Amino acid sequence: MVNQLLEHRTIRKYKPDVVEEDLFNKVLEAGCRASTTGNMQLYSIIVTRSDEGKKALAPCHFNQPMVVNAPIVLTFCADFNRFNLWCKLNNAEPGYDNFLSFMTAAIDSLLVAQNVTIAAESEGLGVCYVGTTTYLAGKIIDILKLPFGVVPITTLTVGWPDEHPEQVDRLPLNAVVHQETYADYSREEIIRYYSEKENRPDNLKFVSENSKETLAQVFTDIRYKKSDNVAFSKMLLEVLIRQGFMNQ
Ligand SMILES: Cc1cc2nc3c(=O)[nH]c(=O)nc-3n(C[C@H](O)[C@H](O)[C@H](O)COP(=O)(O)O)c2cc1C
Repeated sequence: MVNQLLEHRTIRKYKPDVVEEDLFNKVLEAGCRASTTGNMQLYSIIVTRSDEGKKALAPCHFNQPMVVNAPIVLTFCADFNRFNLWCKLNNAEPGYDNFLSFMTAAIDSLLVAQNVTIAAESEGLGVCYVGTTTYLAGKIIDILKLPFGVVPITTLTVGWPDEHPEQVDRLPLNAVVHQETYADYSREEIIRYYSEKENRPDNLKFVSENSKETLAQVFTDIRYKKSDNVAFSKMLLEVLIRQGFMNQ
């Protein structure tokens, strides 16, 4: 299992081959064995296999090609709707209309998504997370008909790999693991920890193609820039209000 995890790479190109229902259900079953807060399973998984469904979702993901090309698109949602319905049926008053409850359900959703990832990869399938789910969550809510109490958190495209990309870098373990208390970083450590990433040919190309001076600028000025972050944050907060999670 550890060796399998060490082999992970995101797969963005898929063969058209069908992912068999039995295998896929086994992957989902294994995924749903993920630990979950209070065993409440505060998530739902929306499976999109139809071309129409994928085409409808694609613009919400800025038309990233894997959303239409993958045989399966999974949208993992933080879901208090089901649990609230159960509470109300059982003379129990749910108090889950707040941000903490949203975080709890979002954490549950991500844990199940990652367990599905591991299960899928163990069967030879490839997956790609699609993080744009939280950018245009409101549109995804409309398309997938998500009720009050449900918020899409992340998306996975799944299929048989049609590529075997080189693994991308990770920071050295020392850079992310702290013993006992947080050891803040010196200037030298930051330079050392990020040097491998900065000097990879793909990243050097990325910097020059984007006419930037540093790799960090590619992140701050292009990929994850402040104006986008602020705009999408506002939209997400509106979604949390609309879906009933902002009663503090
Ligand atoms: C929450 C999340 C969102 C992501 N969103 C996207 C995405 O929108 N498009 C994409 O091509 N890859 C996406 N990825 C994949 C990352 O780019 C990828 O995991 C990262 O570059 C490391 O590569 P690796 O998974 O091959 O190790 C996402 C990954 C995560 C965990």
